[in-house]
Amino acid sequence: METKRVGVLTGGGDAPGLNPAIKGLVYRGSELGLEVIGLFDGWRSLMNPAPEVLPLDRETVRRWDRDGGTNLGSSRTNPFKQVNEEGEAQDRSHEVAENVERLKLDALVVCGGEDTLGVAAILAQRGVPVVGVPKTIDKDLAGTDYTLGFDTALRNITEVIERSRTPAGSHGWVQVVEVMGRHAGHLALWSGVAGQAHLILIPEHPFRYERVCHLLSARMGQSDLSRGLSRRPRYAVIVVSEGARAEDGEMVTFDDRHDAFGHVRLGGIGDVLAKRIAAETPYESRAVVLGHPQRGGAPSPIDRIMGLMFGSKAAEAVADSDFGKMVSARGIAPACEFSLVDLSVAQRGINIVDVDTYYDTDRYHLKGLGM
Ligand code: F6P
Repeated sequence: METKRVGVLTGGGDAPGLNPAIKGLVYRGSELGLEVIGLFDGWRSLMNPAPEVLPLDRETVRRWDRDGGTNLGSSRTNPFKQVNEEGEAQDRSHEVAENVERLKLDALVVCGGEDTLGVAAILAQRGVPVVGVPKTIDKDLAGTDYTLGFDTALRNITEVIERSRTPAGSHGWVQVVEVMGRHAGHLALWSGVAGQAHLILIPEHPFRYERVCHLLSARMGQSDLSRGLSRRPRYAVIVVSEGARAEDGEMVTFDDRHDAFGHVRLGGIGDVLAKRIAAETPYESRAVVLGHPQRGGAPSPIDRIMGLMFGSKAAEAVADSDFGKMVSARGIAPACEFSLVDLSVAQRGINIVDVDTYYDTDRYHLKGLGM
């Protein structure tokens, strides 16, 4: 059996499922003659003239399937856009290829979302032997039905929606829950359904404030004075995706800064919405921004299984020298059909909610649920 030396890195936002993927790679790889070494902090490791590495054998990763985040660390480093001391952006991607040589790597396994795998796709087109593993809580990567981290984030968000009911119900509030997802509403839509939120606002369909207020009063009545006397619900929960915007408004951003991939940090629509509801209805409203803990904690059973499977399929692709590909899952996790797709899918734009199929644009909810 031919022995191959493989570097593995995790880039972009951390996601539960990455450590199981690394375990899957190491375990299946050990049967296929792969020697795996861990590279720290995404592409940043390969921009360093003397990269630190962590040899990964079965014993080292034996318990990693239970760990959230990534034990290799992550960063949003873009080798094609490295800002120097003069503030100029430079293409230093050649350093990645040089390090692959320096570390005597026969292959690189890259776990990431559209940005990290977009870099991997370009490097693959230039001859670097790369295999991609899809990861992002946003589930917005093209070419696959599953991306690592989505299921755990869904679980985490659903728990908060559940917990927000008691304060909202006790005080008669409209509780707005702002969730991640960037330009894709998958997390908002499905957590909103799972947690039985009353309205769900997603980036794919700009909403109208008047419609939100109308739907709230249809649920709760025109006044909050009827407490105890009415059988109407006295509270509501709204899930709003960080990328959602009003028809007459802009996407709300945390600040003006952009990361190395040109993304602005989204955040704040929840607060804007809650203030507007308080101003235009008789109801008090509160907003909570869930932020990074959405990605936190131990991976869910689905993310453990999918991570192990993705890692194992990546090992097989490396053993077969099937480079320039990304592992893909089709069907409902975990009993998916796994295959390899061209890494260039990562460059083809993102996978967003299909509004015609899933979203009721009048009720701001999942279509066909009668909610
Ligand atoms: O892509 C994953 C994600 O969590 C998005 O949902 C969110 O918009 C973004 O990352 C947050 O970026 P950062 O982790 O850099 O704060």
